[in-house]
Amino acid sequence: MKERKKMLSGIKPTGLLHIGNYFGMMKQSVELQSEYESTFFIPDYHALTTLHDPKLLKSFVREVILGYLSVGLDPKKVLLFRQSDVPEHTELAWIFNCITTVSYLSRGHAYKDAEAKGEEVSVGTFDYPMLMAADILLYDTDVVPVGQDQKQHVEFARDTAEKFNRLFGETFKLPEERIMKEVATVPGLDGRKMSKSYNNYIPLFASREVIVEKVMAIVTDSKGGRPENVFAIHRLLRDAQVLEPLYDAHVGNYKALKEALVEDLDAFIAPMREKREKLEKEYDVDALLREGGERARAIASTKMRDVRAKVGVR
Ligand code: ADP
Ligand code: TRP
Repeated sequence: MKERKKMLSGIKPTGLLHIGNYFGMMKQSVELQSEYESTFFIPDYHALTTLHDPKLLKSFVREVILGYLSVGLDPKKVLLFRQSDVPEHTELAWIFNCITTVSYLSRGHAYKDAEAKGEEVSVGTFDYPMLMAADILLYDTDVVPVGQDQKQHVEFARDTAEKFNRLFGETFKLPEERIMKEVATVPGLDGRKMSKSYNNYIPLFASREVIVEKVMAIVTDSKGGRPENVFAIHRLLRDAQVLEPLYDAHVGNYKALKEALVEDLDAFIAPMREKREKLEKEYDVDALLREGGERARAIASTKMRDVRAKVGVR
């Protein structure tokens, strides 16, 4: 049998999952899980760049793992693990630090945004792309399914692989991002990118009450007949051909259109929400992480033996 290409991605455990994560990253991952040899992990060291609350961090790790399972990633087909169970990630990030320049990392969007806001930027935030490069390159990844905001990070990983290969000989595969054009940037309640950090999101496992509350909070443009922010979210669930007559029939009637969106969102979320409730009661997350961590570590430690020999340590 022809060897399958490798897919890997991760979601930072820093909050509740939202429908932007689903449409940007998770949906394509579920659809491709059999076609690729697939790995999904939880980058908890990345979360530590912004989250300094151990209890919350642990609970968000559970949120992401239950999320992966509830949207349909099958643990029999895919490797699931937590980053901090595989210390080779931080080890390789250090080696990458030593072949990367400050001026190169200064081009990072996330770093530049934080700087522009006048925030105090931690070294971890600045260096975030090198840890992410290690995550991707340790597993000989071919494709990384992500939303648009992560494109530059995957490019950094590719550049870092090239640089290492040039310095020490062919070692790493060059990964490519995989971005779904139509949902590259899912808009939030205020029309900006849906994000945990803007608090403009619809949780992926929201109860009906929360769905109602969030939809009613969508910012509507009182000038136009069509509430664009409502339409943009509705478009994720239904074709424009179906929606346009509905929106034409209710010009200016935002309440009716928001009610229609509530119904469609609830129908879409309910099966995943029910699966999550069941898994939360029954699933042994710790056993899954233990087993996944061991499998991931076996792969990463083999790769690191080669890397260490190439750079001349140990
Ligand atoms: P957040 O911005 O809410 O902190 P993350 O950075 O944890 O989200 O994103 C996890 C994954 O979900 C990444 O692949 C990211 O590109 C994708 N993603 C997040 N928000 C969106 C969005 N609004 N539209 C499309 N994809 C998104
Ligand atoms: N930076 C990604 C995010 O914010 C999370 C992440 C860390 C990741 N390491 C990764 C994604 C490796 C894909 C591959 O969503």
